[in-house]
Amino acid sequence: MSQKLEKKVDIFQKCYSFKKPSEFKEMGLYPYFKEFMGVETENSPYVIMDGKKVLMFGSNNYLGLTVDPRVKESAIEAIRKYGTGNSGSRMLNGTLDIHIALENELAEFVEKEATLIFSTGFMTNGSLSSIIIRKEYGILDKNVHASIVNGTYSSFGEIKRFRHNNMEDLEAILSKLEEEPKIVVVDGVFSMEGDIAPVDKLAELCKKYNSRLYVDEAHGLGVLGEKGVGASEYHNALDKVDIIMGTFSKSFASTGGFIASTRDVVEYVKHNSMPFIYSASMPAPSVAAARKALEIIKKEPERKDNLLKISDLIRKELKRANFEVYDGITPIIPVVIEDEVILCKFFIDLLEKENIYTNPIFMPAAENNMIRISCMAIHNEDHAAKLVDSMVKLGKKYKLI
Ligand SMILES: Cc1ncc(COP(=O)(O)O)c(C=O)c1O
Repeated sequence: MSQKLEKKVDIFQKCYSFKKPSEFKEMGLYPYFKEFMGVETENSPYVIMDGKKVLMFGSNNYLGLTVDPRVKESAIEAIRKYGTGNSGSRMLNGTLDIHIALENELAEFVEKEATLIFSTGFMTNGSLSSIIIRKEYGILDKNVHASIVNGTYSSFGEIKRFRHNNMEDLEAILSKLEEEPKIVVVDGVFSMEGDIAPVDKLAELCKKYNSRLYVDEAHGLGVLGEKGVGASEYHNALDKVDIIMGTFSKSFASTGGFIASTRDVVEYVKHNSMPFIYSASMPAPSVAAARKALEIIKKEPERKDNLLKISDLIRKELKRANFEVYDGITPIIPVVIEDEVILCKFFIDLLEKENIYTNPIFMPAAENNMIRISCMAIHNEDHAAKLVDSMVKLGKKYKLI
């Protein structure tokens, strides 16, 4: 038992009064930390939960490659060759030949001089704390991912925010900082809303006001643009983006992340980024899986095409059924359900009665409370129809449509 402290000096007081999760658990409406017990078979969008087959519509496994036998086999082979972990930082004992191979392959794919891989996407955005230093500015879209907020606010620079995808607001900030060193940071595809940053317009403004531009392509990689580089390629602005950031935890069927830029920038981050230097390097099976995924992404563009087709179909059908659905073209389809209790009930019914998993999202993680559907290239029209029929049934039950 830890000792009892007087309430007003006890730093744990906030923990004792943090009751929302237990309230939702008591109502049987707690929607988080659901346990998955494996996947049904290879190349299948079904997972096993509570011994039942559940249709997955809440995973960032956009191209379905986490269940691809070629990707799985390459990870297994890497464990045989390198073991399960590297037990050290890239700087000291943790650099493998396959880290360098993946960095070279990525540099070619995203058309930048050099790349640097990190152990997670979150840590990759942590490199922003070394990019922005004292008397320098980070200028962020209001809706950027938490890892960007964390990375920039832990820098010693000054951080400003502009209204989501609002170029007038950004220009107003940039025009006051014309003489200052600065970088604009956005998600290429916004993780909650699924909309796309106007990377071409951002690049124009950055050029006009002498700013650098950083685009987080976590949700765009493998999904948008002819090659699948993301929003920057989709807007024909790849060469105008100074730093492309990506994760391996979505289309790349693995875990890890990277930045891509000029050799000088990468060399600087490599020797100054705390999350890069002071953490163990990406394990071999994760590296091997990401390499195999990249090879498949380059060879099989039809995966991306099917993903966008299925996403379009679902978005249209849900709109036709009168759900409040965000516009867009990406595989992230937010369906607004404002009332948080109804949202939890809808999510739980969808999971327990219809055997479909989606993600419940609550403010302030997004602009609205929502069911966030994520599509995968391994979904077909039957899977889409099952999702839409089930959502319509529950939409009527809860008087949402
Ligand atoms: C836009 C964005 N950036 C970065 C990350 C962090 O990536 P990871 O989960 O691979 O650490 C995420 C994760 O969801 C994300 O959505």
